[in-house]
Amino acid sequence: MAVEAHVTERSAESAARIQRHAGIDRLFHWVTAVAVLALLATGLLPVVGVEFSWVTIHWMTGLVLTLLVLFHLVRSLFWQRPKCMLIRPRDVSEALQAARAKPGEPVRLPGKYTLAQKLMHLALGLAVVVAVVTGVIMLAKIDTPFWKRDPYLLAAGTWGVVYLLHGLAALATLTLVMIHIYFGLLPEKRVYLRAMTRGWVTREELGAYHDLERWPGRRAGRS
Ligand code: HEM
Ligand code: HEM
Repeated sequence: MAVEAHVTERSAESAARIQRHAGIDRLFHWVTAVAVLALLATGLLPVVGVEFSWVTIHWMTGLVLTLLVLFHLVRSLFWQRPKCMLIRPRDVSEALQAARAKPGEPVRLPGKYTLAQKLMHLALGLAVVVAVVTGVIMLAKIDTPFWKRDPYLLAAGTWGVVYLLHGLAALATLTLVMIHIYFGLLPEKRVYLRAMTRGWVTREELGAYHDLERWPGRRAGRS
């Protein structure tokens, strides 16, 4: 009897589970996170006086990040749902309404992502894409086993702009990543952290902050 009850309880619990991030997307997030943190460390530590031979690790990790971003671009546009990350005017008006609402007043909840999550994705995504594009151009300035340096590829002034954009993108990424990690680790945001580590949330957890009709999720398989 006890075993039966336990089994029913477990299957009821797993039936209520929704898969928020597929395994491949979670792998993408964590590999990207390691790559971005390694790029920030190798790019910025020498600037503050920590000397080591950083260039090789930096450009190789940069190439890995480029491939990761390309993979994510294709997967998100063709295999995921681009609409759920899109920022529409009504996301802003609904978030403002919810912030102003009195206790008990009905509000429209967001679908898969909150406005804050969409804005973080847009800002981090832009900063990382600018860093990646300028970084790929900057590969022309170094000798690697695959090609010889060609500093005359661009005019001196154009190189200046490329370096400036790369530096600004790095600083923006650093600031955004610090904010992102802070919120990612807050105890009240643990549900999202579990969604990014184990993949699932329960319908109840999701329903507290998201509209289950707008994004019903997928039934989670074994996590
Ligand atoms: C290049 C332009 C980009 C586009 C068009 C794009 C598009 C998207 C879309 C549509 C989603 C929602 C997928 C879903 O939940 O169904 C998403 C999620 C996500 N994106 Fe991007 N993204 C871009 C750049 C980036 C960059 C540069 C990063 C990393 C710094 C990034 C990291 C993530 C992460 C971690 C998620 C959540 C995991 C998931 O896919 O479920 N994205 N992206
Ligand atoms: C190392 C500590 C990190 C933690 C604890 C963390 C945590 C998380 C969590 C919990 C989510 C899921 C939110 C959801 O389910 O919607 C997420 C999403 C995302 N992460 Fe991270 N992350 C980390 C590092 C990074 C780094 C270094 C980047 C790359 C630049 C990054 C880029 C993103 C993006 C673009 C999203 C989608 C937007 C969002 O949902 O906020 N993460 N992260």
